[in-house]
Amino acid sequence: MAQLTEQPTTTTPRIGKQGDPCVMVIFGAAGDLTGRKLIPALYNLARADLLSKEFAVLGVARSQMSNDDFRKKVTDEIKESGAEDIDPTLWDNFIRRFYYFAGDFNAPDLCAKLKEYLGKIDRDHSAQQNYFYYLATAPSYFGPLVEKLASAGLMEQGADHWRRVVIEKPFGHDLASAKALNQQLRKVAEEKQIYRIDHYLGKETVQNIMAFRFANGIFEPIWNRRYIDHVQISVAETVGVEQRGSYFDHAGSLRDMVPNHIMQLISLTTMEPPISFDPDAVRDEQAKILHAIQPMSDEEVLSRTVRGQYGEGTLGGERVPAYRSESDVAPDSRTETFVAMKLLIDNWRWADVPFYLRTGKRMPARHTHIVIQFRQAPFVLFRDTSVEHLMPNQLVLHIQPEEGISLQFAAKVPGPVMRLGTVDMNFEYQKYFGKQSSTGYERLLHDCMIGDQTLFQRADMVEAGWSVVNPVLDLWKALPPRNFPNYPSGTWGPKEANDLLERDGRRWRNFEK
Ligand code: BG6
Repeated sequence: MAQLTEQPTTTTPRIGKQGDPCVMVIFGAAGDLTGRKLIPALYNLARADLLSKEFAVLGVARSQMSNDDFRKKVTDEIKESGAEDIDPTLWDNFIRRFYYFAGDFNAPDLCAKLKEYLGKIDRDHSAQQNYFYYLATAPSYFGPLVEKLASAGLMEQGADHWRRVVIEKPFGHDLASAKALNQQLRKVAEEKQIYRIDHYLGKETVQNIMAFRFANGIFEPIWNRRYIDHVQISVAETVGVEQRGSYFDHAGSLRDMVPNHIMQLISLTTMEPPISFDPDAVRDEQAKILHAIQPMSDEEVLSRTVRGQYGEGTLGGERVPAYRSESDVAPDSRTETFVAMKLLIDNWRWADVPFYLRTGKRMPARHTHIVIQFRQAPFVLFRDTSVEHLMPNQLVLHIQPEEGISLQFAAKVPGPVMRLGTVDMNFEYQKYFGKQSSTGYERLLHDCMIGDQTLFQRADMVEAGWSVVNPVLDLWKALPPRNFPNYPSGTWGPKEANDLLERDGRRWRNFEK
């Protein structure tokens, strides 16, 4: 194994400057996302000394709570989340900056009332009137809340202060609604104030795709149709819908995962090198490649997409129920919990290279990876040996839970006869860089505080993602599935997903570990 020439820092999410003085206002402060991700991420930033000393949090939700109740709730939640290494002194200092405001998101005067309290917190903490609003709410509140903030004057920026809003996913439920939401936001806010979050971009391994491609001289020259046979992107989950049936049964896997997370993985894997790391230079290239994905005709949707829904089955040695028996799911639901599709990208670099994508719940293993399969070497030299066939080289970017990169190639099996074995060259994040205590939100929250939009989606990128899936949504709606459930829990999806590749003489790479 090669050694690092420089010892990396293992405990801080990143070395950088502290965030600007600011107040973070969390709408939906009593919800799951706040407790599980946002607060632990803020704490990790505090521990890495990346929060300004002039930073405060104002939680907003419907339930009645005092500041002390809110602080206690947050403290209980962090303990329950199993977060390691909570330093009591640091935590006390951190939690003292938390405040709470009870309000109904539907109330017309919500933000007018909030403004007064926010102003007081701002003065008490010298936050310099910099505010960022995190909308951890149901999507139906995204537009109306930003409008309310604007009409209370809370989106107005000045030469010496900023206002930003972070919008969670799902951003729209199809192309038309995403466009409508963009328009609604742009009426009251500038694009530079809008941070559309996709938590996949907070993952180190996802950010590393760019570093891997552009910080190394050896990969980029072969990163194209001359050398690459095809690409597979798999996002496999073992979980079912858990407690999210009421959301998921209306969304389905296609909406939930493809226009956002999977499009991020595709765009970073396939985009041209940006001219700089300036946010718009990077996002211009991402948007360009998303626009180059061929929209599918109805016939192509039929032949190049597969949908599935899990039935009951066995996972990790335990029986698990069918999707239709989960809570808040219709007993005759036709919502897909699995999607596979083949996409083509219409540009010089990628013409005719198939991109196979799949994502599903209740798969046998949790594994997100990108497989780059290279063209096979000519067999001619091995004709008269005992080698029967050659295996193509695969480069695998392991996104999670394994984090690393592996390259598969052929090697001679020791012995007097020419025989080949397939071996792996492996890089594992943890071995080189140690274990990181990170939720994936640290970098994104910090970027909001310093005004870096590189890892946030621009309006055109979101719309381009929806443009790819919209023809599929339309045709699937017109032709409801008749064979659901069509894969047992604990399997790699319906048979048609294998057929999709086998028809092209290819196979999915599965990681069962
Ligand atoms: C969310 C989806 O955006 O991403 C969930 O709504 C999915 O359905 C989750 O489970 C996957 O995220 P991660 O980080 O676990 O891969």
